[in-house]
Amino acid sequence: MKIGLDFGTTNSSLSLLADGKITLLPIDEFAQKPEVVRSALYFYPQKLIIANSATDAQIKSNTFNIDQISYEGTAKTLFGQKAVKTYLHDNKYRQEGKLRKIYTGRTFELITWINPYSGRIYKEDVPEVLEEIDYGIGRLFHALKTALKSSYYKGSTVFGKYYSLGELIGMFVANIKKRAESILNEKIEELVVGRPVFFSEDLEKDKVAQKRLESGIKNAGIKNVSFEYEPIGAAKYFVHEKPNIQGNILVFDFGGGTLDTTLINVTNEKFKVLVNDGVYIGGDLFNSDVFINKLGKYFGTEIKWGDKKQPMPSRFINALASWFSIPNLNNAEDIRMLENIKRQCNDPDAIDRLLYLIKTNLSFEIYEAIETAKKQLSSQEKSVITYNDGTLDFEIEITKSEFQKIIKPRMDEIKETIMRTLEKVNLKPKDISAVVATGGSSSLPIVKSMLSDIFGGEKINFFELFTSIAAGLVL
Ligand SMILES: Nc1ncnc2c1ncn2[C@@H]1O[C@H](COP(=O)(O)OP(=O)(O)OP(=O)(O)O)[C@@H](O)[C@H]1O
Ligand SMILES: [Mg+2]
Repeated sequence: MKIGLDFGTTNSSLSLLADGKITLLPIDEFAQKPEVVRSALYFYPQKLIIANSATDAQIKSNTFNIDQISYEGTAKTLFGQKAVKTYLHDNKYRQEGKLRKIYTGRTFELITWINPYSGRIYKEDVPEVLEEIDYGIGRLFHALKTALKSSYYKGSTVFGKYYSLGELIGMFVANIKKRAESILNEKIEELVVGRPVFFSEDLEKDKVAQKRLESGIKNAGIKNVSFEYEPIGAAKYFVHEKPNIQGNILVFDFGGGTLDTTLINVTNEKFKVLVNDGVYIGGDLFNSDVFINKLGKYFGTEIKWGDKKQPMPSRFINALASWFSIPNLNNAEDIRMLENIKRQCNDPDAIDRLLYLIKTNLSFEIYEAIETAKKQLSSQEKSVITYNDGTLDFEIEITKSEFQKIIKPRMDEIKETIMRTLEKVNLKPKDISAVVATGGSSSLPIVKSMLSDIFGGEKINFFELFTSIAAGLVL
């Protein structure tokens, strides 16, 4: 028995090779396709317990010392579709976010002043305070794979307990492992795991990312982990399924986080990897582009403020470009800044909406609305990005051609990546006998037309978009 894990930014899959047969395991009973699991982890809320020693003033200001608070019970988690659904449901009925400050008992050194004449540095020991916003609901983690390459993100505190990124990934993998073991009635101790061609272009960071992923998977109780490039997985499965196709084959794996390209040469069942390449463009970035282009104005990205008619500070626009960075704006300093901008700008309603978006933690919902509309555009000429909760109400139409215009710069870069991959081994499009397009973002009609323009339509094979990688990992 051999088991493969495609741990994707958006979706994951587990495959099994037993008695020479490949099967994709139906891990997620709540998903449309049970073999395709949303890479999401949800922590159920845990009740806060405040010690008797807390004073009325502390309770009123919601400020405690770390030893005065604890959480009831132990962490319980959900994975996949149910994790997303539960979070969205809970978030609809959330309470207003309450800021809680927790003194950790530690201090850190803060530079309070540098004397400009003598250069003398004045420092002070300040107490470390953790700030958390309590909405009375659980916590959702998604796209954990994206965090692997980040040198900033190390982990998160969830209901009083700190989890490293490796531990969070471990909890997700433990969930799917448990489900797989109950299907197979056998323990899983070994996994072949896919990895993108580049976690990071910086070799050191790339190594660290793979190590973090490996330790995450080991945290789930897997003893032996081996890695394989994701597009090689797809290539192996393609060759396995279509043994008649020979020559140079380009694998185009276009997912939620990255586009990976691999050129292989196949002759008489011999399989040789010519080159691997890729670029950090995936479906998630398209959602960001749509947010900024279609919803940005609604949330104030185009305002002018102050005497000098300044634009919206770029750090706010940057934060809006991903659902997981919007909640970071929920801090006293940024909120104050936005309220200040609101008083001096030409569209205060837009800033009100932005403040509401930030304070009520709606970014994931709104990005989901974009995701839905984007997917519809793969089979329709237009769609509507919809959200209504009584305060935020919008139905913003987007046409396919508008969407394609928005993502044009990304598609140009993708085309360049393909051409660069070919050039690295001195091949021309005519030297390619087949193109294997896989990954969810290959559903975009623009991908089909781009690949057909380069290689000719007859060479393009759309191949098991969501499961080809997992399937090939066990070969
Ligand atoms: N019908 C569709 N039209 C357009 N995009 C789609 C469609 N279906 C899925 N996608 C996109 O495909 C992406 C997910 O694809 P996939 O599951 O292959 O990615 P992943 O393996 O999780 O990511 P990665 O390999 O980059 O880590 C998402 O960005 C999603 O929006
Ligand atoms: Mg993938």
